[in-house]
Amino acid sequence: MIGVLVSGEGTNLQALVDAGLPIVAVASNRADAPALRRVANSAVFDLADYDTREERDAAMADWLSDEGATLVVLAGYMQLLTPAFLDRFPDAVVNVHPSLLPEFPGLHAVEDQLAAGVSESGATVHIVDEGVDSGPVLAQERVPVLPGDTPASLHERIKTVEHRLLPKVVAELCAR
Ligand code: GRF
Repeated sequence: MIGVLVSGEGTNLQALVDAGLPIVAVASNRADAPALRRVANSAVFDLADYDTREERDAAMADWLSDEGATLVVLAGYMQLLTPAFLDRFPDAVVNVHPSLLPEFPGLHAVEDQLAAGVSESGATVHIVDEGVDSGPVLAQERVPVLPGDTPASLHERIKTVEHRLLPKVVAELCAR
């Protein structure tokens, strides 16, 4: 059973929904995340409502567990997770990232790749640890950078691959 964390648009969440994967709960750090409109069962865990990041993460883990989640997918979740969350789902938190990790981790991966002038980008699905996009890679696919690409055009091309790669890996993990 899958819990999903989101902060933004939620197109990767939509890809998981469309693939018919067993999503039981979606949590966000942002009440205004458009992703929340894509599912029935969601909850918001805003850092501003808690004294510490650990308290917020523990509350979020409690809720996802109570809803039956045993695997957690970060689908555009833009905050780091502490052990208060990660220790509750050992080796069962995965993330999708718009680069060929370990190259270009971080929040501005698409802009950073264009600034560096790379000819090839990609999408990566990996296990989440406490670092920034640093856990073991589960799957990766290359995406070309084209002349005249903007951050938006390159990100769209990468997302098209993410929407195929993420559901495939998550389905495999569910079958374990
Ligand atoms: C994706 O590109 C993902 O790789 C990154 O954040 C973006 C989320 O997009 N971590 P969306 O919210 O799924 O549309």
